[in-house]
Amino acid sequence: MPRFAYHQFLYGSDNYGVLVHDPETQQTAAIDAGDAGRYRQALDEKGWQLSHILITHHHGDHTEGLEELAAQTGAHVYGPAGNNAGHAHIMTRVSDGDEIAFAGEQIKVLHTPGHTLDMLNFHLPTESVCFTGDTLFSLGCGRVFEGDFGMMWNSLSKLMALPSDTIIYSSHEYTEANARFALSVDPENQKLKNRAAEIDSKRRQGQPTVPSLLSEEMATNPFLRASDSGIRAHLGMQGATDAEVFAEIRTRKDNF
Ligand SMILES: [Fe+2]
Repeated sequence: MPRFAYHQFLYGSDNYGVLVHDPETQQTAAIDAGDAGRYRQALDEKGWQLSHILITHHHGDHTEGLEELAAQTGAHVYGPAGNNAGHAHIMTRVSDGDEIAFAGEQIKVLHTPGHTLDMLNFHLPTESVCFTGDTLFSLGCGRVFEGDFGMMWNSLSKLMALPSDTIIYSSHEYTEANARFALSVDPENQKLKNRAAEIDSKRRQGQPTVPSLLSEEMATNPFLRASDSGIRAHLGMQGATDAEVFAEIRTRKDNF
């Protein structure tokens, strides 16, 4: 049974913000802070006071509201080290293996570089929840801007090693387009076909497709399935390494 309450809301064109709240201690953590107004609105709707802000990476759509939100709420800001504008208001810089105390639990920090070099993901083992930022999406993964494909594959492999019942909160509603691409590289996967149909139906009703379960991603997300014989056969890459297959899938997505 999860102890915390979760509130996910949209901001910008397709970003998801999340609030995590502990009814016992009344502590509340925000994942990222791309839009101070939307985060404040979400806090007001729930009647929650913000105590923690956890920044995944420096991109503006995750950090532009940080200064204002931190000033308005007095929340303590945790995030990656770095010299970009998005790192400016981080109070405690954390890195791989660190733990952040929240409501009597420990949030584990995972460094998952690739999309950006500073990318952090936040894992709550006691809740079976992981906030994967722009590293792992529902049926997708982040575009590799600052790192390289090998680095991104290592980062995704770290997430794949989490328990399969981990609930994956990612930062964007990209799933419908991701499903179209996934079917192009894994066309015989019946679980993927079923999931794509569910996603279409959810989106038609305006419902979110985030969060998802890691086990669902392992069965249907092509970026986690570099070792799958069906995908390898489809790509003609039976003898390649997993990292090479991943690089080919990521390159195809960039050009899709
Ligand atoms: Fe990003």
